[in-house]
Amino acid sequence: MSSQYIVHETDVLIIGAGGAGMRAAIAASDSGSSVTILSKSLLGKAHTVMAEGGIAASLANVDSKDNWQVHFSDTFIEGVYISNYRMVEILAKEAPERVRELEEYGALFDRTPDGRIMQRAFGAHTYRRLCHVGDRTGLEIIRTLEDQLLHRKVKVYDEVFVTKLFTNEGRVVGALGLKLSDGVFHYFRAKATIIATGGCGRIFKVTSNSWESTGDGLGLAFQVGAELMDMEMIQFHPTGMVYPPGVKGLLVTEGVRGEGGILLNAKGERFMQRYSPKKMELDARDIVARANYAEIMAGRGTEHGGVYLDITHKGADFIKKKLPSMYKQYLDFAGVDITREKMEVAPTVHYQMGGIRVDPETTSTNVPGLFAAGEVASGLHGANRLGGNSLADILVFGKRSGEGASNFAKRSGFGSVDESLLIAEMERVKSYLNKDGLNPYDLATKLEDTMSEKVGIIRNGNDLNDALNIILELKMQSTKLGVDGSIRYNKGLLQCLEFPLMLIAAEAIIRGAIERKESRGAHARADFPKKDPQLRKNLIYVRAGDEMKLEWRAVPELPDDLKKLVEPEEY
Ligand code: FUM
Repeated sequence: MSSQYIVHETDVLIIGAGGAGMRAAIAASDSGSSVTILSKSLLGKAHTVMAEGGIAASLANVDSKDNWQVHFSDTFIEGVYISNYRMVEILAKEAPERVRELEEYGALFDRTPDGRIMQRAFGAHTYRRLCHVGDRTGLEIIRTLEDQLLHRKVKVYDEVFVTKLFTNEGRVVGALGLKLSDGVFHYFRAKATIIATGGCGRIFKVTSNSWESTGDGLGLAFQVGAELMDMEMIQFHPTGMVYPPGVKGLLVTEGVRGEGGILLNAKGERFMQRYSPKKMELDARDIVARANYAEIMAGRGTEHGGVYLDITHKGADFIKKKLPSMYKQYLDFAGVDITREKMEVAPTVHYQMGGIRVDPETTSTNVPGLFAAGEVASGLHGANRLGGNSLADILVFGKRSGEGASNFAKRSGFGSVDESLLIAEMERVKSYLNKDGLNPYDLATKLEDTMSEKVGIIRNGNDLNDALNIILELKMQSTKLGVDGSIRYNKGLLQCLEFPLMLIAAEAIIRGAIERKESRGAHARADFPKKDPQLRKNLIYVRAGDEMKLEWRAVPELPDDLKKLVEPEEY
């Protein structure tokens, strides 16, 4: 221990303890590496628990025709042809194995009458594919992985916020963390580092995301030169709560529609008939979310500005068995009994399809020693994610990430970092304290309002340019933040540290949304309403000094055997 910070050494450092981080930790440990995992909040309280309705895997337990090829084509087509085909292929092929393994680890899935894992329908999945535990699937996954983690020699540090990654000759060699509960600094020397911090939904005002989802890992990686990709692609989940205000945006699982729930406007019309007569409520999320939005904008919304989601026709016993959390959530928060009354719902920011660019096989980034998995990584979902594919993603690519990082660590030694750099970073953190500066809460509120009002479900060039100017102004102001109080458990200080990282995510989303002059998947431009085949490309975000530069890059060409699965191509 130095006088100012505690030093730790680990082969593999994992920043983020949601499903991807935990699955990576298990894999790295099983590969023979020493592993340390850091959580910004308490272990087990991960945003993964908000993926409620199920995990997608073509087990074919309910619909016998399902297989990895159909899962591949559903995912690639709904990603609107800009996904990395290899990531989609890996996901579709490996998800069944990861689910069975989860069951061996102790996860208790719902069952078919003959005792196999039960699967339910979800939007734009050709077959009933979502393995589930009522509407608490994410929670069961986290419970199971945590149990496995604690049986391995993985060091866990919770309530640690990583303020900066350190490099030596371009390789990531460690991270500085602040233990929020006692204000002690920790420096983690690592041979390989995995970012698994989830998404950035909290930069929007109305979101299903937990308070932790502020895009920290994305910003930290970008600061050391990691390329980002497809950041303009932000998913709106069609159904978030609208009332009461304290829970606005909270997820109402797609499982409700998967189990037969229907959408109605205030006139009682089943409006999906007009938007998607074949797939109705179970079309892809971008389609259903925009339909809900259009009905609300056309003045056919409900009292609190939503549409109705109705599952009362299924009966109380069925609802309480299949959707116990939804039943409780509406009863406790809104005083609504969903077995007898309709829910009010509206689109809510749910997921970032873009993120850190990674290699499909190992999840390595373009920065040596740095890996990324889960929502913070890009490539798999393209322009639109299918429900249930995120839980499959965290298991499939979490495992690959742990193995990739472990293999890298075996070939590498520890890298050194000049102590003066650590001291300078600790001084930066402390400099926010007892300074008569700008209030981080006020600036974060301005950011959230801007993102929700100007970078929403339907975008346009004027609003996006306004938003960019506001974000650049906030960027200048972010150097003047200040809070009162001590370094221990100081929520204001945490906001000062998160805010510059949130701005990186926001700037990338807006710049990409301006650049992509077409509508594709989740990215809808009122001023460019059509898809442009010329823009079937990925947008890459590169750090150039203090600037963010954007480049178009070709989508990897599909090999013939996979091409056949997605024909006719509609680029
Ligand atoms: O609706 C849901 O249960 C969410 C699932 C997901 O985002 O994958």
